[in-house]
Amino acid sequence: MFPCLRGEFFPLVRASGNDMLKCVRGGPKTMTHEPIIRLAAQADLSAINAIYNYYVVHSTTTYQTKPSTPAERSEWFAAHGPEYPVTVVERGGEVVGWGSLSKFRERAAYQPTVENSVYLRHDVLGQGMGRWVLDDLIERAAALGYHSIIAGISAEQSASIRVHGRAGFVEVARLREVGRKHDQWLDVIYMQLMLPISPHRSA
Ligand SMILES: CC(C)(COP(=O)(O)OP(=O)(O)OC[C@H]1O[C@@H](n2cnc3c(N)ncnc32)[C@H](O)[C@@H]1OP(=O)(O)O)[C@@H](O)C(=O)NCCC(=O)NCCS
Repeated sequence: MFPCLRGEFFPLVRASGNDMLKCVRGGPKTMTHEPIIRLAAQADLSAINAIYNYYVVHSTTTYQTKPSTPAERSEWFAAHGPEYPVTVVERGGEVVGWGSLSKFRERAAYQPTVENSVYLRHDVLGQGMGRWVLDDLIERAAALGYHSIIAGISAEQSASIRVHGRAGFVEVARLREVGRKHDQWLDVIYMQLMLPISPHRSA
């Protein structure tokens, strides 16, 4: 198994079951209700959607301008099978954030590459959970044999750029004024993390 990237801080607790991706990990020790990360289930979709839609309305972190409907969220989830995991971070019985690995592009030769997303509920930012969810996604991407992870980040989103940079992502491209939201022109920065080459994916 790929080593836990922050093993010293987030000791791995194995859940029962035969899928390594069902592992749950204890969260930052400073928190009163210790959070866990687990794979998302259908029952989590309403919380996932509420967390995301907040940013659709209030921020430029996503270029989506209309909130996702429950039906759209279900469709999105159905498109994320075991090869493209969706995770949630749960604390005190509540989903307070989520992460995902998605296809980078539809065309088949892009298969070794995934794109990541991390969204935390707006009232739990800055507590270390974003980095934790991202580290967990990196582990999952490596275990699934992907070659690299891409993050497309709006250039003014300094928290996201920071968290990806600290996790080892490097800026590889900047697209100028490709977005417009809330009366602002928006640049997109692409950050990339190369992963160890996996023999079963190299063909
Ligand atoms: C981006 C996001 C995932 C980061 O998660 P977080 O839990 O708030 O951040 P963390 O507490 O893990 O902090 C990670 C690093 O970012 C830094 N950081 C946190 N908030 C920051 C801010 N507003 N500005 C600059 N740096 C910030 C922290 O200091 C920390 O840096 P360090 O490791 O050098 O100490 C979270 O803020 C979020 O969900 N934002 C809204 C949605 C979003 O932008 N998602 C990313 C799209 S892919």
